[in-house]
Amino acid sequence: MKQRSIFLVVLNSSVVLAIFLTFFVLPNAPIKFPYTALPEYSFKLDQALATSGNQFSLLIGVLTRPNNYDRRHFLRLVYGIQSFPIAEVEVKFVFCRVTNREQKIFLALEILRFNDIIILNCTENMNFGKTYTYFSSLPEILPRRYNYIMKADDDVYIRLAQLVSSLQPLPRQDLYYGFVLPCASMNPHEGYMSGMGFVLSWDLVEWIASSEIPKNDTFGPEDKVVGRWLKTGNKARNRFTAKPAMYDYPGTNGRCSHELVPDTVTVHRLKRWDQWLRVLEFFNVTKELNHSKLYNL
Ligand SMILES: *[C@@H]1O[C@H](CO)[C@@H](O)[C@H](O)[C@H]1NC(C)=O
Ligand SMILES: *[C@@H]1O[C@H](CO)[C@@H](O)[C@H](O)[C@H]1NC(C)=O
Ligand SMILES: *[C@@H]1O[C@H](CO)[C@@H](O)[C@H](O)[C@H]1NC(C)=O
Ligand SMILES: *[C@@H]1O[C@H](CO)[C@@H](O)[C@H](O)[C@H]1NC(C)=O
Repeated sequence: MKQRSIFLVVLNSSVVLAIFLTFFVLPNAPIKFPYTALPEYSFKLDQALATSGNQFSLLIGVLTRPNNYDRRHFLRLVYGIQSFPIAEVEVKFVFCRVTNREQKIFLALEILRFNDIIILNCTENMNFGKTYTYFSSLPEILPRRYNYIMKADDDVYIRLAQLVSSLQPLPRQDLYYGFVLPCASMNPHEGYMSGMGFVLSWDLVEWIASSEIPKNDTFGPEDKVVGRWLKTGNKARNRFTAKPAMYDYPGTNGRCSHELVPDTVTVHRLKRWDQWLRVLEFFNVTKELNHSKLYNL
């Protein structure tokens, strides 16, 4: 018998709350997903927060490339139709400076229509500091602050309602949330969160912007370096891995992959349209469409 556990630590100024959800998985048996245990717990907190009016805000920056027009258009649809209570969520697309005349015009058009683009002062790259530039620029360039900042890939599907409800009971400070690597690990206090999508609380984003530690260590796999900064700086005492609700698309990445499951927060490595199609169908994304005389799908 193989044992996995979700380890969640909530540290507050007034309360120290530790929750251990332990569950068992039989090899080769259908995996039992303990994530269903969370809503019951969060439900009580939902009520507490709802009555205290304690909402939170989250900015999701999807790091992409300027010329990925089709993907951006598609992600705007995917995120634009989702609704959820409690939190205020904004999705923005993030890339480095553009010099190409055509891109400047097309991007200006997108900004005029959607106003959901952040262009950082960097040269387009993946593992040479774009993520550092992203986090370290935000406190200065954003017109407001958020409780949480997420970095996401453009080949990930995020279910915003599930993300919001899993973040809701967690600390607003010193938090590092995501899919802990290596794949088989369930311990968020070792390793680092996958670049598919991870969340940092605002204080950590400010720390990244001001500390010498990240500034001096920007090269390397972008998700791994973030884990290294936090470790070196002795930061992110509150950590949460959303496994098994975050994962790679079935069959694409060994133990980081598993079958699609109802309580999903994110599915990663969606490179092809047939993979997106299966995800949209599985999560009944278009089921709400009512019959109309105008169309018949
Ligand atoms: C952009 O970055 C370059 C090189 O780091 C710097 O010299 C320049 O002043 C920056 N521009 C702005 C507008 O911040
Ligand atoms: C930055 O990195 C260099 C080379 O690894 C090291 O010598 C220096 O002490 C570091 N500076 C800080 C402030 O960490
Ligand atoms: C999608 O809809 C079907 C049929 O109504 C239902 O059985 C299934 O549980 C739904 N899937 C999810 C992920 O909600
Ligand atoms: C479908 O119709 C129901 C009942 O009139 C309505 O509540 C719901 O908002 C409609 N859905 C959409 C996507 O328009």
